[in-house]
Amino acid sequence: MSPEINKQLVAFLEEGRAVLDDQLDRSVPPLGTYPPIIHEALRYTLLLPGKRLRGILVLAACDLVRGKRDAALPFACAVEMVHAASLILDDLPSQDNATLRRGKPVLHKAVGEANATLAAVSLLARAFGLIQGNRLVRDRVRNEAGEVLSRGIGTEGLIGGQVVDLESTGKELDLDGLEFIHSHKTGALFIAAAELGVLAAGGRSRDREALALYAKNLGLAFQITDDLLDYSGDPEVTGKDAGLDRDKTTFVNLCGIDGARQLVDDLINASLGYLLPFGKRSSLLRSLAEHVRRRDR
Ligand code: IPE
Ligand code: IPE
Ligand code: MG
Ligand code: MG
Ligand code: MG
Repeated sequence: MSPEINKQLVAFLEEGRAVLDDQLDRSVPPLGTYPPIIHEALRYTLLLPGKRLRGILVLAACDLVRGKRDAALPFACAVEMVHAASLILDDLPSQDNATLRRGKPVLHKAVGEANATLAAVSLLARAFGLIQGNRLVRDRVRNEAGEVLSRGIGTEGLIGGQVVDLESTGKELDLDGLEFIHSHKTGALFIAAAELGVLAAGGRSRDREALALYAKNLGLAFQITDDLLDYSGDPEVTGKDAGLDRDKTTFVNLCGIDGARQLVDDLINASLGYLLPFGKRSSLLRSLAEHVRRRDR
């Protein structure tokens, strides 16, 4: 990546994060709202510093097809709410039993398991509220956006991947099995994010399909780099536990570090291929993919 493109990407990521942080803050009731404990819980994981990559993908996909940023913002916040809900549930003792998330103790340590679970469910409900409340898009777009998000979350998406992930813990898995898990638990929401960006822009189905394929490859690469970070990442930098995947099949223990890195390279290269029809306009999405290739957090 040239220094100039890198500078553009850093500025885009910083700006996207700031816009999303601000809008997410306004999209949930303030602290102290009755009953206070659930509003504290609702805001906790959501508003801690996350990378906001999925929300940024919604905005970038909308920009690419010349949409209006304001129309995509509620969809981007909805995706980030779903993502935060998935992290809260994923961290529970009954799932990954994590201790650290976004640099702070996991939500269930702060408010208990019952309130953490209720906060996750209420974030999911709010996400659909945001989609339905988006008056800057046509009725048809709103309805389709709800369907896209629902598929991304559901048993055919994120939840399907999580279930097989948990079921497979302590068991042997082959490459196809592991790819199913990763492309569902993580890839599905990346795909939904890209599609929501194109939908908000009123983009063509051809563009939506191309960006969905970009996001599919990017999401799988993202989860393989997450496996690499679980193996060798620094919790001070990632803000979450390392080594929680010890009893799981991951791309690292299945393919080795070099093999996993090679797969990331192949997937990122494949994702870049789907941007070719967009020409120069896709430079930000290209550098976003390069950023995922090399990320350390
Ligand atoms: C963590 O996602 C969960 C995975 C799917 C790997 P991120 O690494 O995007 O987490 P945040 O949003 O930056 O905290
Ligand atoms: C979780 O994958 C993906 C979802 C939350 C759906 P991981 O369990 O590897 O994510 P981290 O490492 O806890 O962030
Ligand atoms: Mg997990
Ligand atoms: Mg986890
Ligand atoms: Mg992980």
